[in-house]
Amino acid sequence: MINKKVEDILNAQINKEFYSAYLYLAMSAYFDEIGLKGFSHWTKVQAREEVDHGMILFDYIIARNGNVDFKQIDIPDADFHEPLQIFEKIYEHEKSVTSSIDSVASMSEDECDLATRNFIDWYIAEQVEEEATVYEVIKKLKMFGSDKSILYHLDKELGGREYSPHKYEN
Ligand code: FEO
Repeated sequence: MINKKVEDILNAQINKEFYSAYLYLAMSAYFDEIGLKGFSHWTKVQAREEVDHGMILFDYIIARNGNVDFKQIDIPDADFHEPLQIFEKIYEHEKSVTSSIDSVASMSEDECDLATRNFIDWYIAEQVEEEATVYEVIKKLKMFGSDKSILYHLDKELGGREYSPHKYEN
């Protein structure tokens, strides 16, 4: 049986992962609207990964005989303008997710729930990768953002992202 405080923080994390999926889908729709199909594809793939992140937590709570507790998912903040502004928003969002994953790790240590502490390591590594990937795009946009031909090539590059599914492995 899972510790109640740990169960609560894992349920809160499920909500954050599904909110992330909403946020990326809102961005995907916006990018599509302004004609950046590659950016739209990239954010749509990211939304699918966020659903996977939520589902891994869901399956883990069930595997530990815990209770899944869904909360309302917030409406995404859809104040979108330029690709750079949107990727900076993504970077800030992912930093906040990293911080909430760190809180899960701290809580599981405080409660001596070493199974959850071990489980959450995958998310810690995933956040390092996500922040680094997003920051790479930000650097390119900062360097070349005003050059429309480079933006065109970056759109093509992001359009090549492949979805790699993740699932809970017991
Ligand atoms: Fe599920 Fe983007 O972190």
